[in-house]
Amino acid sequence: MLPRFQSILLYAFSLSALGIFIFLQRDPKITENPVTLKKLEPPKKELFVWAPSSKTVIPCYPNASAANASVSLPEAHRLFLMYKHCRNFSTLLHPSKCEEETFLILAIKSLPINIDRRIAIRNTWGKHQEFQNRKIKLLFLLGKTEATSPAKSLHQLLSYENGEYKDLIQWDFVDNFFNLTLKEIHFLRWFSKDCSHAKFVLKGDDDVFINTYNIVEFLDGLNPEDDFLVGDVIRNANPIRNTNVKYFIPHSMYSANNYPLYAGGGGYVMSRRTTQRLLTTAEATELFPIDDVFVGMCLKKLNVTPEFHAGFKTFGIQSPVNPFDPCLYKGLMIVHKLNPTEMWIMWSLVKDKSMRCAHSKNTL
Ligand SMILES: *[C@@H]1O[C@H](CO)[C@@H](O)[C@H](O)[C@H]1NC(C)=O
Ligand SMILES: *[C@@H]1O[C@H](CO)[C@@H](O)[C@H](O)[C@H]1NC(C)=O
Ligand SMILES: *[C@@H]1O[C@H](CO)[C@@H](O)[C@H](O)[C@H]1NC(C)=O
Ligand SMILES: *[C@@H]1O[C@H](CO)[C@@H](O)[C@H](O)[C@H]1NC(C)=O
Repeated sequence: MLPRFQSILLYAFSLSALGIFIFLQRDPKITENPVTLKKLEPPKKELFVWAPSSKTVIPCYPNASAANASVSLPEAHRLFLMYKHCRNFSTLLHPSKCEEETFLILAIKSLPINIDRRIAIRNTWGKHQEFQNRKIKLLFLLGKTEATSPAKSLHQLLSYENGEYKDLIQWDFVDNFFNLTLKEIHFLRWFSKDCSHAKFVLKGDDDVFINTYNIVEFLDGLNPEDDFLVGDVIRNANPIRNTNVKYFIPHSMYSANNYPLYAGGGGYVMSRRTTQRLLTTAEATELFPIDDVFVGMCLKKLNVTPEFHAGFKTFGIQSPVNPFDPCLYKGLMIVHKLNPTEMWIMWSLVKDKSMRCAHSKNTL
């Protein structure tokens, strides 16, 4: 009973801290600073005040000719091009040591502010550190928040959270959509350096539901020394040339008409061998702002074909299937996208062994 009480207490604490954070943020700046040449000045020292002082900050200056060449592009694209060569960032928060005999790493991309999602994951599908004698390690991958004034209190909250759970890894780059490729590379570096004996890796978002039981069963028959990446694989996706869409990519950044085969970034699994080889290739590949496409580019160079599996629903479930049918979830591996409440509901249903779903796999 006591551990449950503790987690309720912690949940309450996190919620109040979140409340304070939102309160501090109540007067947000509506207008974003446009990219001006002012930004080309060397980064100011004060930007790093809340980074642990023991860490060396590696300065990386914006590329002035890239800034000049990209004036007509949206701001996010300009920032990306100006900072594309900056690929080395220090680690602000470290997770607990990766144990020997780790079977599966659940590496979940999260934003610093998404505390509610992390709490839900830790208490549902990310709960078991062991399943059928297979060690599972849950890990949240974070950058830092863009805002400056509430960032300090959020960072304190994250330090507290990591003290409690030791499952956060945070790097010193801004956590936004276009920096997800940096997250990918830094995660691969961490894996190769600190966790290279783990057999398998699942990479996913913090708004997916993962049927951990099915994932472990699926991986159990596979060899970590084989090359594979399995997920919701997309074939012949076209780069979006419409500036109003989040995934807009101009010809100047990618000129071909198709992306290579890639698995939707919401969730896929891969072997230790593929994870390690991905790092070598990623280090030698220019950054591309869409992280799952970037992984597809690296796989192509490696001559590894990502495999499609119907149990990975990173683009949601198509009607007419009832997305809240627990039997459906019993047969699935990963489903996008659920809020924390839905995760709790689904988990309670999926783990209920008395539920009969003999034909669940037929619904795929
Ligand atoms: C960028 O443009 C500014 C203004 O036109 C110019 O002064 C500067 O030399 C250019 N920088 C580079 C690296 O092209
Ligand atoms: C800076 O940008 C220019 C033009 O986009 C590019 O040719 C050059 O390689 C970049 N330099 C670095 C260090 O990335
Ligand atoms: C990043 O670090 C690697 C090795 O630590 C080094 O080879 C590389 O030059 C660095 N890149 C930059 C842009 O600092
Ligand atoms: C990525 O993070 C770096 C370091 O925080 C930042 O300078 C850069 O602007 C970010 N890139 C984008 C596209 O926002």
